[in-house]
Amino acid sequence: MIVLGSNSEVAQAFVEKALSSGEKFETIYLFTSNKETTNKFAQHLEVKFLQHTEVIYLDITQKIDFSLLDYIQSPLLFCATGYLGLGTDEGLYNIKNTEKIIDINYAKLVPVLNYFAQKMERNRQGSLVVLSSVAGERGRQSNFIYGSAKAGLTAYLSGLRNYLFSKKVHVLTIKPGFMETKMTEGLPLNPKLTATPKQAASCIYKAYKSKKNEAFVLPIWWAIMLIIRNIPEFVFKKMKL
Ligand SMILES: NC(=O)c1ccc[n+]([C@@H]2O[C@H](COP(=O)([O-])OP(=O)(O)OC[C@H]3O[C@@H](n4cnc5c(N)ncnc54)[C@H](OP(=O)(O)O)[C@@H]3O)[C@@H](O)[C@H]2O)c1
Repeated sequence: MIVLGSNSEVAQAFVEKALSSGEKFETIYLFTSNKETTNKFAQHLEVKFLQHTEVIYLDITQKIDFSLLDYIQSPLLFCATGYLGLGTDEGLYNIKNTEKIIDINYAKLVPVLNYFAQKMERNRQGSLVVLSSVAGERGRQSNFIYGSAKAGLTAYLSGLRNYLFSKKVHVLTIKPGFMETKMTEGLPLNPKLTATPKQAASCIYKAYKSKKNEAFVLPIWWAIMLIIRNIPEFVFKKMKL
């Protein structure tokens, strides 16, 4: 299994869910921009599940030497890579913030996903499970740089799924609403609309096993986004969302 964004609590909960459900992986490749904390998770997997792991440093904003990754392949890739950055009030006109949000959520991430997708295509098997966001469903004034990058990611995954379908490769787009993780630490989240990493992992694992195309993490987000997508633009533009 290949994990991108290994320090995400959702990624870690997904790995644990898969292993405790009896999935077998020769090696779990844990890609991370923070090796120190990921090493602890790797040790935990080795002790609890006798799972062989390899921790690989990857900061996707830096130039990547893909030839170093030649030996890595797996029928399952889980991607939790993402960056919220500053919202519109503090960050809209901050160029570094804007670039970083677009790079991590979309521009620099897509080539990495493509790299592993091609290996799956050659092997004619595999699943790419990628966390996008409900924020990509419609641009809202509070965080539309992040939302537009996630919209790009969602559209990319839709096209990739369409392209890889005949090659026996499954692409699952996860559209979480709120999740209680370090990304949302300190934000005032409505508990009824917020999933724990464990809840999210269970839902994602179920969607992966049943080869779904898309899944919202808490079902209520499907209804919320249906409404949000369908508000007429002349009303929507006056709303403070
Ligand atoms: N939390 C929410 O409410 C929420 C809602 C909707 C969507 N999402 C999406 O769900 C996914 C998981 O989010 P999370 O809540 O678990 O957030 P998180 O804890 O911040 O995890 C995101 C991970 O992305 C990786 N990452 C960030 N910058 C990177 C870089 N420059 N290079 C490589 N990796 C980088 C980091 O992993 P390493 O430290 O291992 O590098 C980080 O742990 C993200 O795609 C997020 O956008 C979250």
